[in-house]
Amino acid sequence: MKHFTSVKDVQDIDALVAQALLYKQQPALHSNLGTAKRIGLLFMNPSMRTRISTQVAARNLGMDTIVFNLDKEGWQLELDDDIVMNGTSVEHIRDAAPVLGSYFDILCVRTFPQLLDRDADYSEVLLSKLIAYSGIPIVSLESATLHPLQSLADVITISEHWQEKRKPRVVLTWAPHIKPLPHCVANSFSEWINGWGHAEFVITHPKGYELDEKYTQDASITYDQEAALQEADFVYVKNWSSYHNYGKVLSDGDGWMLTQNRLSVTNNAKIMHCLPVRRNLELSAEVLDGANSIVTQQAANRVWAAQAVLSQILNH
Ligand code: CP
Repeated sequence: MKHFTSVKDVQDIDALVAQALLYKQQPALHSNLGTAKRIGLLFMNPSMRTRISTQVAARNLGMDTIVFNLDKEGWQLELDDDIVMNGTSVEHIRDAAPVLGSYFDILCVRTFPQLLDRDADYSEVLLSKLIAYSGIPIVSLESATLHPLQSLADVITISEHWQEKRKPRVVLTWAPHIKPLPHCVANSFSEWINGWGHAEFVITHPKGYELDEKYTQDASITYDQEAALQEADFVYVKNWSSYHNYGKVLSDGDGWMLTQNRLSVTNNAKIMHCLPVRRNLELSAEVLDGANSIVTQQAANRVWAAQAVLSQILNH
């Protein structure tokens, strides 16, 4: 694996999941693989799970880590190639990226969509320019459109909980939120579940919250949450803002919060959320605290997902 920005960078998802589960059993299995190698983690917005799990994973492989809050501590970056830099931006990505490439062996970055201009967000300019100009492997810690390390941890978590021969019914359900949130977790989960190929995949959301078909084309999509939840084995709860009416919150989502009562039609489904979660808005506290919630295990698996990815890049 050269870079890791989407499921398309993965040759064999099953093998990557198996490697992650091996690291879960033996975290120090390859503790010298990254000796004398340095990994940089650049953040353009807050993070707890991604920031810490990637550092733990790098440490397990023997790597040194430097975390840099680029949004708060760095010079304001310019991404536009055809510009006279007489405004607020101080440093061009064409100059910064090769410098970062000289400091690190692997560079990880978390970007965030502005949710104002869909074409701008979906073009993933920062990520693609880091790949073009840094000269080293780039790992997405969540981009404007995708969150591949999260999705790999999600697939690992489902794998751990599923021993039956038939495919599990996995339902991604939209949840209410007060703020417009990105599409990246939902896009990425859809892309990974479809690429993995070992699940019956259903997406449910209110009208107006259709995602980019590029990611969801192989899923069954319904506006009827109760029908979607029938016989579900896993229910992944997540809010996202409108894709077609870009970045807008279209309604208060009344009636869409997942409660214990709503889950009664499922096959005793396990409940997933990438976290952070707003209790009693996106998901009821009784569900989050209930026996079927696997959100903590899902977050814990972020370490093994990151370790498997970094290991494959180091071995490239
Ligand atoms: N799920 C996730 O990416 O969490 P953080 O934003 O805390 O990293």
